[in-house]
Amino acid sequence: MSLIEKAVNQQRLAEKIEEVSKGDHAQSLLKSKSSLDLSDVKRVTIDPSHAFEYRLAATRDDDSVASAYKMLRTRAAQRAKANGWTSIAVTAMRAGEGKSVTSINLALSLAAQPDQKVFLVDLDFHNHSVVKYLGLSGHAHLMDFVRGNRGLAEALVQIDNNGLYCLLNEEHIGDSSELLMSPQMADLAKVFGSIGGTVIYDLPPLLEADDFLAFSDRVDCSLLVVSEGQTTRHDMRTAAERLKGRELLGVVLNKSRGDVPKYY
Ligand SMILES: Nc1ncnc2c1ncn2[C@@H]1O[C@H](COP(=O)(O)OP(=O)(O)O)[C@@H](O)[C@H]1O
Ligand SMILES: [Mg+2]
Repeated sequence: MSLIEKAVNQQRLAEKIEEVSKGDHAQSLLKSKSSLDLSDVKRVTIDPSHAFEYRLAATRDDDSVASAYKMLRTRAAQRAKANGWTSIAVTAMRAGEGKSVTSINLALSLAAQPDQKVFLVDLDFHNHSVVKYLGLSGHAHLMDFVRGNRGLAEALVQIDNNGLYCLLNEEHIGDSSELLMSPQMADLAKVFGSIGGTVIYDLPPLLEADDFLAFSDRVDCSLLVVSEGQTTRHDMRTAAERLKGRELLGVVLNKSRGDVPKYY
């Protein structure tokens, strides 16, 4: 797609967001959203061999990586419960440190517990990979909801019969921080915050876009993914500045030499 075409698409999206948030349609959308019925959500199956290929080990019983994610899940859940936090922004310093792999594994691991409801939302509009890692291309997604083409229940997919609901994305959005500050996103965070369960947002890296800052007021806490041998001391200092005054759920050391993620 040429730069001009991208710019035109971006403009159309901006107009659509404005139209949806001003028009009558916004009112009906809001009404349907405030009564989100999860029994309407489409159920999908993930292929275990595909999931394993993309490092989604969280649901395996026989694996040291799965045990590490269970540890992360349990400690993160305890800390979140103690503080009354239900929404988590997962971020990192830079792309490629393992945010998406960590977000999905944490979500799968939390949802594997009995009676748990977990929502995983891909808000990395620069590098959406949840859909690819889960092998779920071609389903309804977040932008259907943002554009007002579908209600929230219709835009979600539920993994198998467990408690994990995903809001996928397959579109690259240039002006993503504007989108993250839009009324639709405020509504989305509000609805997820009100129906119970844990919400995990996979957001872009802290140091490569302002997206995290644009959305972080809508979440209770953040989980920072750092990768051994990749994250630099300088980046850590800059990230600490940007996270100042925000609640930190923890830090996950990913790609550690033992190939098992660690939680601090
Ligand atoms: N613990 C790990 N060990 C080895 N490779 C990993 C690990 N975690 C992630 N990866 C790989 O690193 C790449 C980037 O991971 P990803 O989660 O997409 O990063 P991000 O979302 O931070 O950009 C992917 O190819 C992923 O399979
Ligand atoms: Mg990612």
